[in-house]
Amino acid sequence: MKILIVNGPNLNMLGKREPAVYGNDNMDKCLAELRSVMKNIGIDYFQSNHEGELIDCLQQADEKYDGIVLNAGAYTHTSVALLDCILAIDTPVVEVHISNVHAREDFRRRSVIAPACRGIICGFGLGSYRLAVESFLL
Ligand code: DQA
Repeated sequence: MKILIVNGPNLNMLGKREPAVYGNDNMDKCLAELRSVMKNIGIDYFQSNHEGELIDCLQQADEKYDGIVLNAGAYTHTSVALLDCILAIDTPVVEVHISNVHAREDFRRRSVIAPACRGIICGFGLGSYRLAVESFLL
């Protein structure tokens, strides 16, 4: 089983970015924990602050992975281009958010990409990534 985790804009700032919302840990720690707990799953990681690079990444990952875990960051709420990309590829995508987007500002409650995703996990801190990876084992 091969899973690709893709993070969008500002998620390279985890650890420093709004710790009250996103916690104090960064993605390196999260990935190290995931890989040590899920030794039988190959977990690759990509992060970009650029919409087009995220789309290139998803297109290139299509059919090379069993699943994609996508935290599109703010593009979740705006990007028709990402929605179209997820609709275009065959590899299933699970939408992830670290924070509970439904408990925050109204604009975060709307996901443009959700209709194209297999499911959505939000609100469990960096544990959301683990739950999303585990969803591919169901
Ligand atoms: C986020 C929630 C988004 O609303 C926000 O723009 C992010 C992070 C989350 O993981 O909680 O960048 O996707």
